[in-house]
Amino acid sequence: MRVGVVGAGYVGLVAAAGLALGGHQTVIAEANPSRLARLRERRAPFLEPGLDEWLRRAGERLSVVSSVREMGPRDAIMIAVGTPSGVSGQGDLTQVRQAVEEVVRTAAPGTVIVMKSTVPPGTGRELVRQYVAPARRGLAYVSNPEFLREGKALHDWLHPDRIVVGAEEAWAAERVAELYRGIDAPVLRTDITSAEMIKYAANALLATKISFINEIANLCELVGAHIDDVATGVGMDPRLGPHFLQAGIGYGGSCFPKDTRALYFTAAVNGYAFELLRAVIEVNRRQRIRVVHRLNTLLGGLAERSVAVLGLAFKPGTDDTRESPGLEIARTLAGYGAKVQVYDPAAVLPDSGGPPGSPVVLSPGLVRVASLEDAVRSAQAVVVATEWPEFVEADWERLYRLMAAPRVVFDGRNCLDAARLAAMGFRYVGVGRRVAPATGDADVAPASLAEGTGGA
Ligand SMILES: NC(=O)c1ccc[n+]([C@@H]2O[C@H](COP(=O)([O-])OP(=O)(O)OC[C@H]3O[C@@H](n4cnc5c(N)ncnc54)[C@H](O)[C@@H]3O)[C@@H](O)[C@H]2O)c1
Repeated sequence: MRVGVVGAGYVGLVAAAGLALGGHQTVIAEANPSRLARLRERRAPFLEPGLDEWLRRAGERLSVVSSVREMGPRDAIMIAVGTPSGVSGQGDLTQVRQAVEEVVRTAAPGTVIVMKSTVPPGTGRELVRQYVAPARRGLAYVSNPEFLREGKALHDWLHPDRIVVGAEEAWAAERVAELYRGIDAPVLRTDITSAEMIKYAANALLATKISFINEIANLCELVGAHIDDVATGVGMDPRLGPHFLQAGIGYGGSCFPKDTRALYFTAAVNGYAFELLRAVIEVNRRQRIRVVHRLNTLLGGLAERSVAVLGLAFKPGTDDTRESPGLEIARTLAGYGAKVQVYDPAAVLPDSGGPPGSPVVLSPGLVRVASLEDAVRSAQAVVVATEWPEFVEADWERLYRLMAAPRVVFDGRNCLDAARLAAMGFRYVGVGRRVAPATGDADVAPASLAEGTGGA
């Protein structure tokens, strides 16, 4: 088939390369000049393991253009542009509307528009009413949400759990299913709005599991239980499963935060108060603030304290820092006067010009440094915000020698060996983990934190 993809982001580029490798003549349009330049050199403009290799292998079957109108006639055009949060938490559909408009204006009659971007339930119906139907060109609109995970995107493209196809016309649904020929996965056919809802419901439920286990972890701290054992025991029930039961500082990234907010907003504008989801979002926000509170207590205040934050990518295996918990914690600590050094082996920050190099001042009191050692040198506390193998497998005895008292390690991902670190003399703090305290290790009285002064 002749396929077009609009937007060479984490979803669009993986889809385009996957479709080309699946035998489709594929062209991808990318509007961002720096991403486009990288693509023209056959290099992925962001970190996704294996994607460079896929781009090379796709060869002539994948071409790159800068706009929809250069695509030429296509049987299907997949839209994979960004849908960030709007000011009130609603999905900002500016890029989607623009892309649909461009496609409707330029596509050949009979083209199927395939919506890969995550758009709130009801959006597709509205786009059809506003753009697709009035064009009267035999265009069809299909919702085909994407479930891939950054860092594992190639695997997920080849082995999806399901392919959801939401369509009003059977021929259009058939054509979209045909895009995935050779991929062994069940195809679930629904109407457009149900397909959109599946994506949001799935993300909201995963976020709910995370916030739920975080609440249980917080309670474990109060009653003296151990979250690792609790999560293991809960996850052994096949009705619940072991996934998304890792307690920590909460979810971040390009999907869960914005999608939970957008679903909450969609409910609200439809006159429904989605109380469970409101709590999920609030618990997630609070998990990050708890780190600041604990450090304030353990360090006897934050002003002039030296803290290292390890991990800015929202999870390991990606350079994506959208809604990064580590970055937010670092900014908040700096806002309270702490001297914060952040380090991440891969994260790309829009304001620091790319992956690690020499130290970059991100804002007053907040410096990005080029190595783990530079980050922890003289730090009184370390926050592990992303479970990169480099942090998990680090020589913590050496890091201990580089740090300054009281050598707090806040393990925001419960990824370190708590007992080992405590035995080395660290003041180890996890989330819901019980660790025998080192002798003479009482918390210092907290300095009170004035609300509203913490955001740098
Ligand atoms: N990132 C993920 O893990 C993931 C997973 C599932 C679903 N999604 C959803 O997929 C969508 C895309 O996410 P992403 O992370 O790939 O976004 P992204 O921001 O990385 O990429 C979007 C790209 O589209 C380009 N673009 C925007 N308008 C364009 C136009 N008119 N013509 C050409 N290019 C245009 C942008 O320049 C950008 O490079 C979002 O709706 C997201 O919610 C993302």
